[in-house]
Amino acid sequence: MADTEDIVTVFVSTIPGLEFICVAECDELFEVKSKKEGRGRVSFSVPIKSLPKLSKLKSVHHYWLQVYRSSDFFAADKPKDAILESLEKLIDNLKWRLAVYALNYFKKTEGKDSNDRVYTVTQAKENEDNTTDTSSQVLCKESISVVDHRKKKVEEDKESEQKPSKLSQMPDCVNFQEKPPALLDDDRNGCIKMETSSLDSESIFTSKNNISDPNKLITFLKKNAADIKFRVTCNRTGKHDFTSMEAARYIGSGVKGYFGWNVDLENYDIEILAFIDNNEITIAIKLSQESKHSRNVKYFGPTTLRATTSYCMLKLAGVKSGDIVCDPMCGTGSICLEGINSFPLAFHLGGELHAEGCQNARSNLDYLESTRKLGLPYDVLSWDACRLPLRNGILDVVICDLPFGKRIGYKGRNFALYPAVLSEIARVCRYKGKAVLLTQHKSAMNKALSSCSKTWKKQGTFFMNMGGLNAGIYVLKKIAH
Ligand SMILES: C[S@@+](CC[C@H](N)C(=O)[O-])C[C@H]1O[C@@H](n2cnc3c(N)ncnc32)[C@H](O)[C@@H]1O
Repeated sequence: MADTEDIVTVFVSTIPGLEFICVAECDELFEVKSKKEGRGRVSFSVPIKSLPKLSKLKSVHHYWLQVYRSSDFFAADKPKDAILESLEKLIDNLKWRLAVYALNYFKKTEGKDSNDRVYTVTQAKENEDNTTDTSSQVLCKESISVVDHRKKKVEEDKESEQKPSKLSQMPDCVNFQEKPPALLDDDRNGCIKMETSSLDSESIFTSKNNISDPNKLITFLKKNAADIKFRVTCNRTGKHDFTSMEAARYIGSGVKGYFGWNVDLENYDIEILAFIDNNEITIAIKLSQESKHSRNVKYFGPTTLRATTSYCMLKLAGVKSGDIVCDPMCGTGSICLEGINSFPLAFHLGGELHAEGCQNARSNLDYLESTRKLGLPYDVLSWDACRLPLRNGILDVVICDLPFGKRIGYKGRNFALYPAVLSEIARVCRYKGKAVLLTQHKSAMNKALSSCSKTWKKQGTFFMNMGGLNAGIYVLKKIAH
C-alpha cells in the first residue's frame, strides 16, 4: 500500500490572469504555500492523503499529479534522435506507484454528470428531439450531440451490464479518509495531443476491487493492458529541435512499451501531460475526470459563464455572510448558482430581461434546490437592469457579466447600456457596497466609468483569458451616499 504520508506535487489549472485567486484558495484549503507555474497553472506539494480535497477547489478546472520533473533535461547539447530516445525511456523513472494509487481513487469517486446537461438557445424554433427535458428547447448542434451522447451512453451502459469486464475483479487500492464530491473541461488551449495508449477505467477503476498494493495494481494494469486506453498531451514553450507532437509520440511509445496500453485520443482513460518549458520537463497524470467549470448548470444558454469565473468574481467582491448579492443581468444564473454553493450564507438575487434566460435561470436554481433538503437563499426576477424594481441602497454587492461580443447585444448599444446600468446599480447599492463587472468591451466600460466617477471608484481591473478573448473584471466601490 502507498504511504498516505508520501508527499506529492499537484498541478491545477485555473483562469489565466486570475492565478492569484487560485493560489489563495489552495493555500487556505491545503495549508500550503502554492505557486503560480506559468499561465493558468498553480502547483503545490501535499501528503497524498490530502488529494481528495482537490475536488473541493472552486477556482480550478483540472488537476494533475506530478510524476516526474527535471529542470535541466534538455540542457545537454544532444542530437534530436538522442533527445527523443531519452523521452521514450523517461517512462521507467516515473512515480507510477503513487500515480495509480491516486488515479484509482479519483476514477472511483468522481462522477460524470455531463450526460444530464441541456443546451438551449434563445432563437430556438423547434425541438426535434423529445428525449431531452421538455422545459427547454433543445435546438443547437451542441444539444443534439449531447442527446446523442446520452443515448449512446445508455446503450453502452446496457452493454457493459451484460458483459462484465475481467477488470471488475480488481481489488481496492486506496483508502483515503475523506470522500470528495464530483467533477471538472479542457482549457489546454493549443496544446498538442497524441495517442499513445487508454484503459477501460469505467470498468477497471470503478469496479469493486480490493488491491491494496499499488505494485500489484501496476501488474494488474499491465495484465489488462488490452482494455486500457491513454493519450499523451504535450504543452511546450521555448526553442527545441523536436516538435510537441514528436515529444508526445516518443513519451507515448515509452508508455506503450511499459504497460502495453492502447492509444485513443478521444475515449482515453488515462491522460499523461508533458509540460516542456525550455530545458525543463514535467510529466503529470490527470486526476480530474471532467472540468469543474460547468458544475452547477443544467440548462445552458448562449453565453453561460463558467462556474470558475463566477467563483473568482464572487471572491473579488469579498461576499460576506448576510450580504444581499445581485446579478442584474443573470442569463442562465451561473453567478447566483455559484454564489449559493460557495457563499450560502448570503442571499442571491438574479434578474434578466429576456424571458427565456429568466426561465433557464429559474430552472437551474430550482434544480439545484431540488437536490437539497433545505430551501436555498435566492430569487430570480424578470426585469430591465436599467430600471430595477428595488429600493435605494438595498444591495451589498452587485456582480454582473455584462453583454459584450457578438452573441449578446452589439457593440454600439453598450455605449448607452453600460452608463445606464452603472447609474442604476449605484442607486440600489448601499454606500461602500461593491460592484464586480465583467466585460471584454473595454472602451464602453472606460467611458461609462468616467461618466460616474463621483459614484463608483475603481479599485482594480483584472484581465483574464476567456475562451481566447481578453476580458476585464472591474472591481468598483460605491463612494457616494
Ligand atoms: C453576458 S450575458 C450573461 C450570461 C450569464 N452570466 C450566464 O451565465 O448565462 C448578458 C445577459 O444580459 C441580459 N441583458 C441584456 N440587456 C439587459 C437588460 N437591460 N436588463 C437585464 N438583462 C439584460 C442578456 O439577455 C444576457 O442574458
